[in-house]
Amino acid sequence: MNIKHQDIIRFRKTLQQFSPYDFDEYKIKSLKRRIFKILLTYGITMEEMLGRMQNDPVFLEEVILRLTVTTTELFRDPPEWKRLGELVLMELKQKDSITVWHPGCSTGQEVYTLMILLEEAGLLDRADIYASDINSRALDVAREGRYPYLQNVPNLNHFERLLDPSGTGSETVRPFPWKDYFSVNRNRDSLKMKKHLRDKPVYKKMDLVQDPNLFFVNFDLIICRNVILYFNDTLQKKVFDLFYRNMNHGACLMLGRRELMPDSFSGRLIEKDRFYFKTS
Ligand SMILES: C[S@@+](CC[C@H](N)C(=O)[O-])C[C@H]1O[C@@H](n2cnc3c(N)ncnc32)[C@H](O)[C@@H]1O
Repeated sequence: MNIKHQDIIRFRKTLQQFSPYDFDEYKIKSLKRRIFKILLTYGITMEEMLGRMQNDPVFLEEVILRLTVTTTELFRDPPEWKRLGELVLMELKQKDSITVWHPGCSTGQEVYTLMILLEEAGLLDRADIYASDINSRALDVAREGRYPYLQNVPNLNHFERLLDPSGTGSETVRPFPWKDYFSVNRNRDSLKMKKHLRDKPVYKKMDLVQDPNLFFVNFDLIICRNVILYFNDTLQKKVFDLFYRNMNHGACLMLGRRELMPDSFSGRLIEKDRFYFKTS
């Protein structure tokens, strides 16, 4: 099946005309891959898909949900979380109250990861946590806080090893108290986050491309990982501008391992070991 450039243009126009979403600036390559997958899943042609998008709102919503990649895990990229603890959470200890935003939080594992680290640092009580995603189904999973256990075990073990590199379980390094944060049912391969964590964040459906900050607060920490990777340069700048305008002085922005700040922000955000701080 060959998806032509012209097809992508028609697809974007249809989305713009019949939905509130704008995928105009998404990278063509990732859009093409997603559209290809949708056509295969439904066994339809491009023409049929465009027709259904115009006449069937349920199908249209389904297409929008399938355009975005929602892959995520607890403690995804463990060394990044260790660095966050050392570089950023230490600094946040100076503050009486802390506001955090997770744009593109998907099914919430990243939100729970941060809350665990905040609690370990004695900061969770003074933190307000906000999280958003364009995909409302992903947000429902985040609120429920139930995940496959085995899928997350490698990251949890890796993170624990980072805290005790000698692996000797020396007296100064206590075992990580995972039980305080989730319960595990191995027979069901299920891990359920504890209620005090599930109840804490405010979740909101929000499109980073079109919406303003719907939480109406400024943030001390924005964690947006593996989201802008799918955006082209224009859109990355637009999203950075949104972040910048809603960061407090001294606030930090954490990106994914393969993501970089656009050059045009280099005077405004200072990079330190791949965390970005607002200094002006
Ligand atoms: C690969 S997941 C990343 C999840 C998590 N941040 C992580 O790194 O583990 C990307 C998320 O970005 C969301 N997303 C994509 N485009 C978006 C947009 N325009 N506005 C808000 N969220 C968006 C997707 O729905 C998806 O849940």
